Amino acid sequence: MAKLTLHDVDVRGKRVLVRVDFNVPIKADGDKIEITDDTRIREALPTINYLREHKAKTILMSHFGRPKGKRVPKYSLRPVADHLHTLINQPVLFSHDTTGEVPEKIVGAMCDGDVAMLENLRFQPEEEANDPKFAHALADMADIYVNDAFGAAHRAHASTAGIAMFVNERVMGFLMEKELKYLHEELDKPEKPFLVIMGGAKVSDKIGVLKALMEKAGAILIGGAMANTFFKAEGIPIGASRVEADKTGLAKELVDLAKERGVKFLVPIDALETQEIKAGAPTRNTSRLSRDNGISEGWQAVDIGKATIALFQEEIAKAKTILWNGPVGIFEIPDFAEGTIAIAESMAKSNATTIIGGGDSVTAVKQAGLADKMTFISTGGGASLELLEGRELPGVAALTDK
Ligand code: 3PG
Repeated sequence: MAKLTLHDVDVRGKRVLVRVDFNVPIKADGDKIEITDDTRIREALPTINYLREHKAKTILMSHFGRPKGKRVPKYSLRPVADHLHTLINQPVLFSHDTTGEVPEKIVGAMCDGDVAMLENLRFQPEEEANDPKFAHALADMADIYVNDAFGAAHRAHASTAGIAMFVNERVMGFLMEKELKYLHEELDKPEKPFLVIMGGAKVSDKIGVLKALMEKAGAILIGGAMANTFFKAEGIPIGASRVEADKTGLAKELVDLAKERGVKFLVPIDALETQEIKAGAPTRNTSRLSRDNGISEGWQAVDIGKATIALFQEEIAKAKTILWNGPVGIFEIPDFAEGTIAIAESMAKSNATTIIGGGDSVTAVKQAGLADKMTFISTGGGASLELLEGRELPGVAALTDK
């Protein structure tokens, strides 16, 4: 069901409570916190700036890390508020409490066009417990509720789900709208050939999404440590590679399902192997993998091999829509990054609609300096997987139907 958006409500002079996902990566050096990637903050700017320009009183709220209901100084949102101040060139009023007298006083004194931010919602155990009293207290500060936190839309927490009971007007922000457009609408009827590249460590994390995507994709390419589980299922020796040994049955099931549906399902045909996972460790490309010729005893696969790169590039060149989720090797170590970077580069060169479905593949694309060459990069990891799987996101369900 389509949901109301910011354009559907009159925000002028209103208290607009906006759930954002400012759960950004940081580097903590003693008391000094450095935001290492501010994409999630920048991606919320269209919503924040629209509200400023339309003279709303904007109150931002977010979670940050997993402080488990306690005040953990490292996860204070104050440095994020300071960073936002520099991005919008306007002071951001900061409330060191999430509910109660402190924020109420700040909100009560706000002028039209002001921006305020509440402290980390997860300093309160009530947030993750989806406590109705807490949700009500948050809602009391709002005339209109906006959810722009796509990255947290798969969580049924007080600020994403419970709050719906207590605010009448609940709309999507522009980032939420954009995420749903690309990950939901565009991929509902993707232009064909539709290619899916799925990597990452665990096949068990991706079963649901792989099954769902088999309904639409013409080809699925598998990489990352999860490929090892498919090797094992096929009887290909995997040496000392990381594997989910108890998931080989599942891997077989997925291969069979692909066959049944007529989906080309490609696992790597060769691999880069090493004896040690560290920068500078010697590596070698295996020859073509088979039951008689697998990953060497005591060695482990850390990237797709050169023949696989060429095979995957051929598929990428043929596709009209490409969805990529999860790196195909341990790209954080440059010696093992060739496959992942090659995929990012081939996607950047292709004329297809290219969608990066959140998580580590986003980091890889950014690291390769190719982010602006992709059609769309999601800000949500878990949320994008759940959406692609066809599950309803509580943070979207809670919004007012159009
Ligand atoms: C994320 O980073 O994926 C979101 O902010 C959700 O965070 P969570 O997994 O801690 O709920």
